[in-house]
Amino acid sequence: MEVYNHDLIILGTGLAGLRAALEASQQSKGELDIALVSKLQLMRAHSVAAEGGTAAVMRQDMGDSYELHAWDTVKGSDFLADQDVVDFFVHEMPKEILHLDHWGIPWSRTEDGHIAQRPFGGHSYPRAVFAADKTGHLEMQTLYDTLMKHTKKINRYDEGFVTSILIENGRFAGLTMIDMINGRFVLIRGKALILATGGAGQIFGFTTYSETVTGDGLAMAYRAGLTLKDMEFIQFHPTGLIPSGILMTEACRGEGGTLLNSNGERFMGNYAPSKMELAPRDMVSRSEMTEIEAGRGFPGPDGLDYIHLDLRHLGRAKLLERLPLIREVTIKHIGLDPIDKPIPIRPVAHYTMGGVHTDIKGHTPIENIWAAGEVACVSLHGANRLGANSTAECLVWGRVAGEEAARYCANASAAEMPKTAEQEWAKIEALIQSKGTEDHYQIRKELRKNLDATMGVFRTGEQMEAGLKKIRELKERYKSISLKDKSLRYNTDLERAVETGFMIDVAEVATLGALTRTESRGGHARRDYKVRDDENWLKHTMATYTEAGPKLSYSKVDISMWKPVERKY
Ligand code: FUM
Repeated sequence: MEVYNHDLIILGTGLAGLRAALEASQQSKGELDIALVSKLQLMRAHSVAAEGGTAAVMRQDMGDSYELHAWDTVKGSDFLADQDVVDFFVHEMPKEILHLDHWGIPWSRTEDGHIAQRPFGGHSYPRAVFAADKTGHLEMQTLYDTLMKHTKKINRYDEGFVTSILIENGRFAGLTMIDMINGRFVLIRGKALILATGGAGQIFGFTTYSETVTGDGLAMAYRAGLTLKDMEFIQFHPTGLIPSGILMTEACRGEGGTLLNSNGERFMGNYAPSKMELAPRDMVSRSEMTEIEAGRGFPGPDGLDYIHLDLRHLGRAKLLERLPLIREVTIKHIGLDPIDKPIPIRPVAHYTMGGVHTDIKGHTPIENIWAAGEVACVSLHGANRLGANSTAECLVWGRVAGEEAARYCANASAAEMPKTAEQEWAKIEALIQSKGTEDHYQIRKELRKNLDATMGVFRTGEQMEAGLKKIRELKERYKSISLKDKSLRYNTDLERAVETGFMIDVAEVATLGALTRTESRGGHARRDYKVRDDENWLKHTMATYTEAGPKLSYSKVDISMWKPVERKY
């Protein structure tokens, strides 16, 4: 086993990870020794797929305000967001837009040169700052370029597949990593860790996420003793392309696109008359499913019945300027030009509202671990995230975590040499040598199908109970998997197998949390408990690891600004 030592380790190189690295680097005038670890090549993190925009209050002169952004976010969250966190976020966010502007991002602009903003669902002001429909990609590029200007000590571990987070004597002590390129076991030690590994969308079959988003950071943190919070809240984005699930950005509707059922009716008027297609995602997704279930959808492949996203009336010029990626994707993937034809779409798994529990500064209860971005649950989004608040969250808490962790590293000594790394390698060796009869690819397939069937837009106790039983069966079968590839160099068989183990743990936590929560709130819509129950359920679900499965407890929601009211649009 090779051992590398650094000051700060950042695991995950999407928006939150890069923003953290940049801040930590600037804080230390480039002197902090930072390790950037990713199972991918650096610029392939899933953040590059963020399309439509980043929410921030930029035009108080035109009627937007911090209070309005905060209220929209809290109402959108179905009152499960922590309101002190939301207040902090809305005040920090405009600074991030201006930082990126100064660092050279090509924001789309208005005719008079202002940073342009477009409407997004659930926001009562056109608040999404954007760069055409490639916002995440350009934010990533800008952060990376700027990081390269500032840093003197960035160590990249590209294609380093991390298998465990080691916490010993109450402190982070290191990461165990398979160096995929060279086929070596590696221990990376640091004074502090920032976890920025993103979500877990691949636990679903029909998803906007890339293949790589398998909940690794969530599962490793959970196994290491950190708490996962509010994992039952999964966001379904209303417009996933049929049949792949590729994101058709909410900006399509922000720019004026409409949703039509098979009768050609613009049905959102029946569900959210004041916001129509720009109601929050949980509501639009439920409305679409209601139309489909009532027989007003189109028959699709493999049960993926769909409705139409119509952009035809926007006209060629607007589509080319504002939504070029959407057009490119629909032409390449399904041979359809949205200038001429409506796009077949349906709700698609898109975001994990829950994550690793942190405080308002992104700090976990372990003194030298922070979490930022989708892997974290700082409780900004509650039960339903508003569109464009995710890239925003990555920027704000990437910055905060970077600043805090850099300050910590300046005064901290490295943790002692971990004693448990060898045990982790023994487990990996045993997996490589296993002669078990189960096929982990098959287990992953069954897991994803199961989540699609039981943890979708609408849920019932009966389905989730069956879903949980199935997950636990898969967990048992997983103990008997074996690998075909017995080597270490670029052993993607091994990588997929370990990922599937992570996915099973995340799915179990999410499903148990959902089954236990006997109400409907935000993205958690139960047919058997149709209404929100603040008396019993205005609380966060906290899941901790035990050998027997997740143990649930609950914690308070901060409602210091607004008391919950009925949510109408
Ligand atoms: O629709 C989108 O462009 C996605 C944005 C988001 O999830 O915030």
